[in-house]
Amino acid sequence: MNEILRKSMSEAASAVEKELEKYYSVYRDTDTELVRKAEIYSLTAGGKRIRPYLVLEFCRAFGGNEKSALPFAAAVEMMHTFSLIHDDLPCMDDDDLRRGRPTSHKKFGEATALLAGDSLALRAVETAMSNPYVSKETALAGGLALARAAGSEGMIGGQIIDMRGETEILDFETLLKLHNKKTGAMIRVSANLGCLAAGLTSNDPEYAAAEEYADGIGLAFQIIDDILDAESDSATLGKSVGSDAENNKTTFLSFMSAEDARAYARKLTEEAADAISPFTGCENLILFADYLIERKN
Ligand code: IPE
Ligand code: IPE
Ligand code: MG
Ligand code: MG
Ligand code: MG
Repeated sequence: MNEILRKSMSEAASAVEKELEKYYSVYRDTDTELVRKAEIYSLTAGGKRIRPYLVLEFCRAFGGNEKSALPFAAAVEMMHTFSLIHDDLPCMDDDDLRRGRPTSHKKFGEATALLAGDSLALRAVETAMSNPYVSKETALAGGLALARAAGSEGMIGGQIIDMRGETEILDFETLLKLHNKKTGAMIRVSANLGCLAAGLTSNDPEYAAAEEYADGIGLAFQIIDDILDAESDSATLGKSVGSDAENNKTTFLSFMSAEDARAYARKLTEEAADAISPFTGCENLILFADYLIERKN
């Protein structure tokens, strides 16, 4: 990986991990600690912290300060972690390994895993809406955007189409829609939150460019995820592999070879980079888009 990007991603991940800790250090109630333990277990298991990176980096690129972006970055990682816990449940993908550890339900049982996911989703919105370093209006806009991105028009909507893809063959257009919601929505909102933290609104050209970039890398990201599920091993990936085939999922590989899928992801990545290249300060994000399609985990 490019050294400048590696350093920038690693600093962002540390800052977000420190921020996440803050939200849990205030609790003392031992009667309820099991659910928090499960939340922290999944949150601290590692993870590439891709979505928080987008929040922090777009904020920085467009002239905002890190302090304003950190609560949004933590919030998006909480929401994402919720989606992973539920995605792995026996009633969903039924997977045993996540972020290099046994999945939440393997460690804590299904009921606690379910509740930990619920709690993380709610905590995510709460965290975004109570961001103390932006205006009340911006905090509300951030919370709203995050809730919508995760809900049934966004990530959860994608998950429901994904489940349908197990029992019926989806056409290519529906697969694109699935990916756009399941993975795209959370990546898009990460870019949105970074722009909001920098004081931009949806009327600004930077905001639109960030969204165009996010849509491109979001789709490319899920294409690579589909390929890795088919081609990688669980030690490298830190999560179960072969899950899609086992569950009869419709994926990119249902329509094209891995080589063609990679070429498609590369084309999307180039277009994504073009969308933000007119703006100075976006150099790391261009490197980041390349990293996402070259990644091994
Ligand atoms: C996995 O996301 C789930 C998908 C949306 C494909 P990541 O690959 O970003 O998972 P972590 O956060 O690094 O564990
Ligand atoms: C992403 O899809 C699921 C979400 C968390 C929204 P996958 O089911 O392909 O994710 P992985 O491969 O288990 O990480
Ligand atoms: Mg899934
Ligand atoms: Mg899965
Ligand atoms: Mg997958």
